[in-house]
Amino acid sequence: MNNIEMKYNFNLEYFEKSADYVKSKIDFKPQTALILGSALGSLASDIKNPVEIPYEDIPDFLVSTVKSHAGKLILGELYGRKVVCMSGRFHDYEGYDYEQLVAPVRLFKLLGVENMILTNAAGGINTGYKPGDLMIIRDHINLAGASPLRGPNDDRIGPRFFDVCNAYDEGLRTLAKSLAKECSLRIQEGVYAYQTGPHFETPAEIRFLRMAGADAAGMSTVTEALTAAHCGLKTLAISLISNMAAGVNNNRVDGEEVDYVAAQSAKEFKKYLSSILAHMESQEDE
Ligand code: HPA
Repeated sequence: MNNIEMKYNFNLEYFEKSADYVKSKIDFKPQTALILGSALGSLASDIKNPVEIPYEDIPDFLVSTVKSHAGKLILGELYGRKVVCMSGRFHDYEGYDYEQLVAPVRLFKLLGVENMILTNAAGGINTGYKPGDLMIIRDHINLAGASPLRGPNDDRIGPRFFDVCNAYDEGLRTLAKSLAKECSLRIQEGVYAYQTGPHFETPAEIRFLRMAGADAAGMSTVTEALTAAHCGLKTLAISLISNMAAGVNNNRVDGEEVDYVAAQSAKEFKKYLSSILAHMESQEDE
């Protein structure tokens, strides 16, 4: 074993240990995985017949450090679909190594899920956006310059080099857009700029990002979407625009405002996600 393999030996068997434990607690196969961002965790309380598994009970899994993120896996039925839901996600700014951030999506893949929905709160860069809008992520700009797929590659999980043109699955985006009129929130589609945080961006960074074609900025989602693209899991990602990003208006960016706007929009966002989940099922039934 070389030095890098000694640090993280993230081969298929490593993740199978987590997956086997979760499988031993359930008697169904989840179809869709959900990772819910800031203040949208309340969706998890709608899950029927929930089986809750604290992250710390799952062998070789990570433990969440953010107060507002609960830190458990919830499995059950949500709007007619069998789901595995992460209540609380892992961010680079908590101090994990990039390589560790693959754990949740690898677990989902081994549980046999067909697709994944990611949500987050993000700052609006596009001046046509307003707090309270939703943005279906079409593509991203990864300012971290690092990938969770760095390090030794296990070809049984995915190829060393892989395409990410469809990291945000076109079919799922089309489905989400077709349901937009049922939602009272404005639905945008745009490019998500990822930087690691925990600081918000500077006004100069936001001007730079707007020129580069970004529509919203945030601190999550991209590591998960890249991990999913690597192992061939379809992803739909939706940002709630919780504030305008730094320098877009005269307001300072404020973490409490982010949580407040997210909470205000949670009910409508939930409704929208429920119709997406319901229609995913009917697509497969056809
Ligand atoms: N920037 C980065 N992440 C965020 C923001 C923001 O303005 N708002 C919510 N998450």
